[in-house]
Formats: sequence, structure tokens, C-alpha cells
Amino acid sequence: MDSIINKNSKYYLSKFFYHCCFHLTRKSSLYAIVSCFLLFLLAYNSSTVFYIQVPVPANSSPENSIFSTENLAGKSRKLVSLSSSVIYALKEEPPLEKSNTHLSISHKNPNLMGFTYNSVVYHPRRREKKKSLVKVYHSGVKINEFSMRMKEFFGSKSTNSSCKFRFFMTWISSIESFGEREQFSVESLFKAHPNGCLVIMSTSMDSPIGMQVLNPFLEKGLRVTAISPDYYYLFKNTIAQAWIYSLMKGNVDPGEVSLGQNLSNLLRLGLLYKFGGIYLDTDVIVLKSFRKLRNVIGAQTIDVETRNWSRLNNAVMIFDKGHPLLYKFIEEFALTFDGNKWGHNGPYLVSRVVARVSGRDGYNFTVLPPMAFYPVDWNRIGSLFLGPRNETHSRWLLLKLRKIQSESLAVHLWNKQSRGLEVEEGSIVQHIISDCCVFCNSYSSKL
Ligand SMILES: *[C@@H]1O[C@H](CO)[C@@H](O)[C@H](O)[C@H]1NC(C)=O
Ligand SMILES: *[C@@H]1O[C@H](CO)[C@@H](O)[C@H](O)[C@H]1NC(C)=O
Ligand SMILES: *[C@@H]1O[C@H](CO)[C@@H](O)[C@H](O)[C@H]1NC(C)=O
Ligand SMILES: *[C@@H]1O[C@H](CO)[C@@H](O)[C@H](O)[C@H]1NC(C)=O
Ligand SMILES: *[C@@H]1O[C@H](CO)[C@@H](O)[C@H](O)[C@H]1NC(C)=O
Repeated sequence: MDSIINKNSKYYLSKFFYHCCFHLTRKSSLYAIVSCFLLFLLAYNSSTVFYIQVPVPANSSPENSIFSTENLAGKSRKLVSLSSSVIYALKEEPPLEKSNTHLSISHKNPNLMGFTYNSVVYHPRRREKKKSLVKVYHSGVKINEFSMRMKEFFGSKSTNSSCKFRFFMTWISSIESFGEREQFSVESLFKAHPNGCLVIMSTSMDSPIGMQVLNPFLEKGLRVTAISPDYYYLFKNTIAQAWIYSLMKGNVDPGEVSLGQNLSNLLRLGLLYKFGGIYLDTDVIVLKSFRKLRNVIGAQTIDVETRNWSRLNNAVMIFDKGHPLLYKFIEEFALTFDGNKWGHNGPYLVSRVVARVSGRDGYNFTVLPPMAFYPVDWNRIGSLFLGPRNETHSRWLLLKLRKIQSESLAVHLWNKQSRGLEVEEGSIVQHIISDCCVFCNSYSSKL
């Protein structure tokens, strides 16, 4: 990073030197040349001071174009067959106490420890990291680099094959924990979308070892990459910019694992808002192409009596860039963040906001029924991993499998509940694996 800063500043300095001397020498004064040279030396030596004032090249503010809402002009297709039974309404329930504890203690990654936004204790060891991040932000160089990498990966119109589908995943965890399940999630995505492009937003995966993990996909010509997130760039000019700043003041490095899920909840919103596309959790198995979907979020549960949805989930989201609902989500996150309540900043957040805006003008989106992405709720997910026990059960499994295969676009595996479960012979998940694999012989019974 420093070398880039220096390159930039040296570039401007040499330009300055050139102009200065060119004009002065025309007046043909030896004195002017000498003094100019001395000035240059002085400036060069103190370039660390100078670079702060160096103007950032004009093309480094792509956010102007990215914030445009050109895609918004309402052309979003209604998914009649899937969405007809869903009516927007919300019955917000307090988080279940039982699931609450159950969910939060099952973090496998020891790094995913708690973070309480309002009571962060000052941590001197982190000071250095924080400082360097702030510097990087002000220099403007990192911002540029991030957006350049994104642009380069997605391809402009001039490149050979611009991406047909833009997929995003986030991985705010260690590289070792990016295991078979996560890799299979990527496989299934490409099986259904061979022309898709996937960016895994991740600091740990954005490394040589991370690229090794992704290499089998690259060798097959599939387009996947890992890029470290730039929170400042993503949330610039949104209300969450202040939130990110407070985070910094609280001495919490946004690149670090401690914020885990919470940051991932915000990151996915920023990614879709800035770039538009499809966000997927890394425990979502894709069954079918998403090509017909536009501005879509999925219901996790419905009220059996009214058939209205009772909870949405944010594990799968498809939105045009700059969609106003995304802006509302980001706003809600920044205004109501509560690091102590499970789900508050994720699934409950999207439920709250959608309930509030539904029926209002200017929000064009579709809520798909649970069968679309969440055919089995988290407390039943184990049933997908079981092999047939007896004839009745075997028949039930087959019916369930057929239903999922015909009606679902994806299956959320609810990692926290199902991680570590064995994929039994003849189970629904085993059938899904053989349907959706790309490499197709590398998966053992443990997904
Ligand atoms: C919303 O989407 C519908 C269906 O695609 C379309 O007919 C309508 O014009 C859109 N409305 C707005 C405000 O964009
Ligand atoms: C659910 O849907 C019905 C129409 O089917 C509607 O009248 C009602 O207001 C909706 N909301 C709730 C919370 O029941
Ligand atoms: C958000 O952070 C808090 C505090 O660290 C943690 O308890 C909570 O589990 C996190 N939320 C999620 C959804 O992981
Ligand atoms: C464009 O695509 C063709 C066919 O896939 C390939 O042979 C060629 O190398 C590509 N060109 C570039 C510049 O990527
Ligand atoms: C078949 O297996 C299921 C699941 O284990 C069990 O609930 C059910 O009682 C069994 N039925 C018979 C007839 O054994």
C-alpha cells in the first residue's frame, strides 16, 4: 500500500517539477532552475507529508456511477407461480429463548466471539491496526483498488464475457473453516449457473491459500474469486458510514472475526446495494437457475392460517443495485444495531423493514414462499440428513425429495443446526449432492 501511495505522490511531484521547471526555464534563468531543483528535492524528501494533499486521480470516484439507480425503473417480473400465495404482513415474535441460546453457543469458530457494540472495551493492541486502516481510507488508494478489482472481475462490456449473474458470498472467518460444505455451496451455484461470476468477500480467502481452495473451480473455467471487503467504500454516502466510523472509534477492526455474523449481515446489504446481484449464504445449496428472479427475498415461515409470511430470511437475496429496499435495510441496521440479540440485525431486520414498507409506493420486490429457498425450517433440518428407516419413512423421503426438486430453487442448510450431521445413505441431502455437484466424487458422508 505504501508503495502505491509513494508511486502516486512521486508521480505528482515529478509532474509538478516538470511544470515548474518548464515555465521557469523559458524565462531562461539559471537561478530559477537551481531553486526549482532544490524545491523538488525538498518536496521529494517530505513526500509522506505531501501525499495527503495529492489530488486523487479523477477516475477514482466510481461511487457516483455505482449509486445510480438506472436499473430501478420498475420492470421487475412478478413470479406468479411462486409468490401468489404470499401476502406481505408481519407478526413479529420475540426471538425464542430456547433457540437463542442454542444458536449462539454452537459457533464452531472460537474467533466468532461476542461483540457488544455499546460497550467495547478499549484494546490497546488493536490501536496500530486501526490507525493503518484509517490512513488507508484517507489516502483513497484502497478504495480505488477495491472497486478496480470488482470491476475487473465482473468485466466491462469490452471484455470477452461479462458476467451473466453476479453472485456474492461473505466469509468473515478463518480459511481453515471454509470447508467441504462451503465448497459444495459454490459447486451447486456453478452447476446451476455455469456463466455466473462469484465474488467471495473475505479477507482470509483473499490470499494464496484461499486461491488454492478456489483453484479447482478456476481450472474448470468457472469464474470465482475472493476479494477483501472495503467497508468504507461500500457504505460511503449511506447512513451506515457513521456506523462503520463508530465501529472504528470503538477500536474494533471491521476485518476481524469478532463481529462475524453481524458484519456479514451488513456486508451483504452493501454489496447488493453497490453492485446488484445475488447474495447467498455459504450454507445454501442451489438447485435451479435464478435467471427469472429479480428483486426477491424469501420467507422462512408462513402463518398456517392466514398464509401470510411470518418471518423472512436474508440468506438468499436478489436485488438490483441501488434498490430502495436495500437502502432501508442498511438504514435499519445502522439505526437499530443490537449486538446482543441473535438475529436482530439479520433475519428479523429484513422482516421488520419489509413489514413496514409493504404496500408503499416505490418498493418493487417479491417475497417468495418458504419452499423457494427454505423448504425445511431450521428445527427440522436434521430430517434431510437421515436415510430411510422403514418403508413408510422411505416413501415420505421420496415425496419430500420430489417436492424439493420440483418447487425449490435452493435449500438453506442452517449451518448452526446441521453442521457436523452425517449425510446418511439414501438421505435427501445425499440425493441433492449428486444432483448438484460439479466434481461429483469428492464428497464423503460428511458435508
Ligand atoms: C413494479 O413491478 C411491476 C411488475 O413487474 C411493474 O408492472 C411496475 O411498473 C413496477 N412498479 C414500479 C413503481 O416500478
Ligand atoms: C394476512 O392476510 C390477510 C388476507 O389474506 C389480511 O387480511 C391480513 O391483514 C394479513 N395480515 C395478518 C397479520 O393477518
Ligand atoms: C452479533 O454480535 C453479538 C455480540 O458479539 C453476538 O452475540 C451475536 O450472536 C451476533 N449476531 C449474530 C447473528 O451472530
Ligand atoms: C475470448 O474468448 C475466446 C473464446 O472463448 C477465447 O479464445 C479468447 O482467448 C478470449 N479473449 C480474451 C481477450 O479473453
Ligand atoms: C418408521 O420410521 C420413522 C422414523 O424413524 C418412525 O417415526 C416410524 O414410527 C417408523 N414406522 C414404522 C411403521 O416402523
